[in-house]
Amino acid sequence: MKVHVANHPLISHKLTVLRDVRTDSPTFRRLVEELVTLLAYEATREVRTNEVEVTTPVTKTKGRKLADPRPVVVPILRAGLGMLEGMSKLLPTAEVGFLGMVRDEKTLEASTYANRLPEDLSGRHVFVLDPMLATGGTLIMAFHYLIDLGANDITAICILSAPEGIAAVEKEFANSKVPITIVTGALDEKLNENGYIVPGLGDAGDRLYGVV
Ligand code: URA
Repeated sequence: MKVHVANHPLISHKLTVLRDVRTDSPTFRRLVEELVTLLAYEATREVRTNEVEVTTPVTKTKGRKLADPRPVVVPILRAGLGMLEGMSKLLPTAEVGFLGMVRDEKTLEASTYANRLPEDLSGRHVFVLDPMLATGGTLIMAFHYLIDLGANDITAICILSAPEGIAAVEKEFANSKVPITIVTGALDEKLNENGYIVPGLGDAGDRLYGVV
């Protein structure tokens, strides 16, 4: 498994405003969108392309275009939905699937409550959007789901990650034949006893959409 922790002054700046408890939901949503676009630039580094011929106003030349089948973007509901707009800016032609997952606040175990994905993901590069990689339970379950449907390359984009979560995903997929990459804005210090990332930014879903 590959882990890429972003190291860019613009990402650090935006993350610092995002973490701030005083940042309101509209600003939080805009920052998440901007951060995802920046992280997506790194996450799509290995996306498959084909050589094509293009005619410029001056001459014919060779270029590259995204290969078929197109990548699939899968936001994990609900907080991953806040990342979709930023990802779509960079990959507007990708297909979008949805996975609804929730974690039990006591056991911290993830379970699936909704799924809207292509039945066959053979040959597809899947980009999973989940802002907080905490215990890793949600991503582990989502990755198994996608691998079972045939995905042959998986990249997760997470705004923040905890070392415990990265280690759990790494252990679970140590022998996976499917290449797995995690691209994250920052690797935080730890998880607290409630499964929140420290220093973190609190509950990403609540901060995006307000408490319901
Ligand atoms: N989910 C969140 O929204 N925040 C955390 O810190 C951990 C999991």
